[in-house]
Amino acid sequence: MTQDGFVVSDGTAFYGRTFEEYCELFDLAVHDLVDRRILDCPGGPGSFTAVAARVGTDAVAVDPEYGPPVATLEETCSSAVDDVVDQLQAKTDLFDWSFYGDVATRERYARAAATRFLADYARQPDRYVDAALPALPFDDGAFDLVCSANLLFLYDDRFGIGFHRDAALELARVASEELRIAGLQSLDAERSEYVDPVMATLREAGCTVESREVEYRFQPGPTEVLVVTDVDSVV
Ligand SMILES: C[S@@+](CC[C@H](N)C(=O)[O-])C[C@H]1O[C@@H](n2cnc3c(N)ncnc32)[C@H](O)[C@@H]1O
Repeated sequence: MTQDGFVVSDGTAFYGRTFEEYCELFDLAVHDLVDRRILDCPGGPGSFTAVAARVGTDAVAVDPEYGPPVATLEETCSSAVDDVVDQLQAKTDLFDWSFYGDVATRERYARAAATRFLADYARQPDRYVDAALPALPFDDGAFDLVCSANLLFLYDDRFGIGFHRDAALELARVASEELRIAGLQSLDAERSEYVDPVMATLREAGCTVESREVEYRFQPGPTEVLVVTDVDSVV
């Protein structure tokens, strides 16, 4: 599904992570989430929103793949995990396994995330918004914390610098306190050439941008999350 006929999701994997993986990836703990309004964009078939809602947050996820019935999304998720597992088995040596241990464990995380996501998507469809960067259907500052992983920078071969700048500013616009962007490497495992221009764009807009080391390890390359504050200047 896409918004306003704006086809954006081609070529990206509808693949998701668990709440636990997100906490490592974004350097977040449960106490950072309680009583906050949180946006996960893109949410993919991840369990962060479902679990965050259980610990007392007002959590919403955005993805242009949301919208179809559960049974259709279940097939999409399952085939995305199959594809990723096939690729990981063929290229095991290219990854850092200190977090997951092995491919089977990584697969278990992905299937657990999808199962939790699908159950919540069926029960609480309002939490899952069919929309796409760089235009989000939310008011300025609608969320205290906005999290974005594995879209910006990862797919820098198909989304250009204009998209990256616009998407980062849009994510900052809908945040009132903080934006975190995780996954600074592109698919070739190098730090994306767009990281510095995006940091500069956010700073020019009045934000404070810090690059913070995280414990999470998987793709080789940068091991930091961007932590963006003073976001209220972006409207
Ligand atoms: C690799 S997944 C990442 C999902 C999740 N953030 C994670 O780290 O596990 C990339 C997601 O980006 C979504 N996507 C593609 N284009 C998008 C856009 N323009 N705006 C928002 N999400 C998009 C895809 O549908 C897919 O679910």
